[in-house]
Amino acid sequence: MISLSIRHARLATMEGAQAAPGDGPLALIEDGGVAVDGERIAFAGPDHELAEKIARGELRRDRGALEIDAAGALVTPGFVDPHTHLLFAGDRSAEFAQRLSGATYSEIAQTGGGIISTVQSTRAASDEHLVEGARQRLARLTRGGVTTVEVKSGYGASIEQELRLLRLIRQAGQGASCDVVPTLLGLHTVPPEMDRHAWVKVVSTELTTEAAQQGLAHGCDAFCDKGAFTTDECRTALEAGVRAGLAAHLHADQLTNTAGAALAAVIGCSSADHLERTGAAGVEAMARAGTTAVLLPLAAWFLRDSKPAQAAPFLAAGVPVALGSNLNPGSQRMEGSSLLLAAGCLFSGLSPAQALWACTVGASRALHMDAPPRPDHPRPPHRSPPQLRLTVRERRQNDCTTEHTESTESFLVPGSCASARS
Ligand code: NIG
Repeated sequence: MISLSIRHARLATMEGAQAAPGDGPLALIEDGGVAVDGERIAFAGPDHELAEKIARGELRRDRGALEIDAAGALVTPGFVDPHTHLLFAGDRSAEFAQRLSGATYSEIAQTGGGIISTVQSTRAASDEHLVEGARQRLARLTRGGVTTVEVKSGYGASIEQELRLLRLIRQAGQGASCDVVPTLLGLHTVPPEMDRHAWVKVVSTELTTEAAQQGLAHGCDAFCDKGAFTTDECRTALEAGVRAGLAAHLHADQLTNTAGAALAAVIGCSSADHLERTGAAGVEAMARAGTTAVLLPLAAWFLRDSKPAQAAPFLAAGVPVALGSNLNPGSQRMEGSSLLLAAGCLFSGLSPAQALWACTVGASRALHMDAPPRPDHPRPPHRSPPQLRLTVRERRQNDCTTEHTESTESFLVPGSCASARS
């Protein structure tokens, strides 16, 4: 039964190849229609075919079904943000000024700032404070058209605290108008009170299985870099995650090329993220393994990195490229889909259509959202297919990086259908 239909839309089916020129990645249907049956997209195609199916009774409308005349507006899948650290407490705004004065991310971390300072503030914060902060950030992302957000733990740095943060991520997602996909980021920093080898062992042998068995995490992640964790340490932790049924991700080659991308490929990670310093061998390994590249151009900008990761080598090798906000308390505080799309074009060299593909199809591949759940693994549920977003824009306007938030009416499906905003 159709609960919602959208008629006469400029429909971005996203079935084109990401590397295609022009609007190719969007595979646009100029006069398109979409029919939604509860949480399932029952039809997406030419509007006249939708009309015929309805007339023949092949698609039946629910009593009270909503029909929207999009009048040529662009309809795209909902945006997916595949890389955030948005549950945290504390204030690291002073680091921004420090960086402007020339301090690097690593130098700030070595002097007690960076991730470890957020660990201290987050451990000390109440559950309510953490959940409320995360909810507000999720609400702001949702207003920009994001319908699914990945959220990493990683500021707990002990078994109890990491499991607590995963529970709070789930809590923050309840009642949010987007789906939340929780990721255990066990190897983010070495706990101040623990030896690094002991922590790697705890993450690999206890924390990961516990998080998976309790159904608290959809994915697992590790920070592989000079000054963070080695490839061997990350491999041990992520292989434990894969054995436990989690989708693996890796913070790879952000500050130095430690062959993180190649490691992600060997492990079978669904994504390798950052990749500012990945070389040709890493790109090729990812292409062979089918690992998605998650580029985080806002973080590179915020950190004043003169070499943001470029999309071209990945696209040329057939690696799907996704864009993530990397929203976090220290190295990237900016929010907004327009900004991310623009950064993907300006800093990473994507075309507007490739950036739109990256924020929808690419990002959902990075999260491995199409993987069937394993019967032995109580993975947190997420809605599928991605929610729809109807963007009201000038029919001829073709610059997907401008003003879509401000001029958008979002119709989120399912949930509170046709919640229009302007
Ligand atoms: O993805 N690189 C490691 N983790 C985050 C930064 C987190 C922080 O600085 O608090 C990142 O950039």
